[in-house]
Amino acid sequence: MISYQDYLQLLPKTELHCHFVSTMNAATFLELADKHGVDLWGSDPETLFDFADLVDFLVGFRAAHDVLRDPEDFARVAWEGVRDAVAQGNLRYREYYVNPQYFAARGVGYLEVMEPIIAGLRRAERDFGVGFAIIAAINRRDDAASAVEMVRQVIAHPLPEVVGIGQDDLTPENTEDPTRFAAAYELAAAHGLKRTAHVGETDAATSDAVRQAIEVLGCERLDHGYRITDDPAVVELARERGIAFATTPVSTTICSDWALDEAHRIRAMIDAGLMVTVSTDDAMFFRTDLGREYREGLFAMGVDAATAKQIALNGITGAFCDDVRKDRLRAEFRAQFAALDAVLAPAA
Ligand code: ADE
Ligand code: ZN
Repeated sequence: MISYQDYLQLLPKTELHCHFVSTMNAATFLELADKHGVDLWGSDPETLFDFADLVDFLVGFRAAHDVLRDPEDFARVAWEGVRDAVAQGNLRYREYYVNPQYFAARGVGYLEVMEPIIAGLRRAERDFGVGFAIIAAINRRDDAASAVEMVRQVIAHPLPEVVGIGQDDLTPENTEDPTRFAAAYELAAAHGLKRTAHVGETDAATSDAVRQAIEVLGCERLDHGYRITDDPAVVELARERGIAFATTPVSTTICSDWALDEAHRIRAMIDAGLMVTVSTDDAMFFRTDLGREYREGLFAMGVDAATAKQIALNGITGAFCDDVRKDRLRAEFRAQFAALDAVLAPAA
């Protein structure tokens, strides 16, 4: 028999919201920094990942991109990240945010980033059976014209693995302001790219950012989206449109100081019937992993086994992959659920 927390950790999972750089493990990060002579924002591994808030974290997050320079760096991080997530949380499929503008600013071009990442992820798919897709992230610190240029690059270099666009970081004013990038989303939509965005995450954000991402940007999925619970009309809109939410319970708690309990906004989103999925966002930086997000995050929010399995299945429905892969994943998940249900210790 296994405990409920072990059960949560062992459930088969997808991950729809993680930033490629954040899937690195800390040892590799320090090794690559050393390799390239990169001065990190601190040198003590004990405190390197202590961040005051989202804005403080983003300073380190941007800087961390510096350690990825050679093709073998990208390919190694890609492969190791899958290996680690399979061991930590039974990962079966993953979608990655990659921010080409961060790398361009460091002189590393679009294909120089994407091709070795894809090579590493393909090798991981062969070794661990974990499929993947990539979402090109608009860097909100850059302007709207630069976002359009980035989307043009995605279109000019079609890679079957790069299936959509998103937006991350914050604007120079530390806001979300999703519609600033409406032209880039329009272009992406016209070329059949899927659309997501980080919205409704920060203290300053409102449910209106969530509404705009759905209505103006045409997003099929949203990252975070927590402020939605402030407006029942936006909740209704998201439910009607079948919008998936890539939430990150443990990560978000570190950035927001919200208590991880039954009153958490993510629990309210689940109870409101929204299509909630669970991811790590920035595992290395927030000292979390996919297993922990379920084991500690869902557990602390009082999520029961039936709902946890539904959340895992939502992670298939909300994925940007084709129906053949989705059907295969659903069959695999259902078989693993049955095996896990059979050994779950009855509640005390
Ligand atoms: N980039 C990486 N993690 C992020 C987050 N949580 N919000 C905005 N941009 C990010
Ligand atoms: Zn994110």
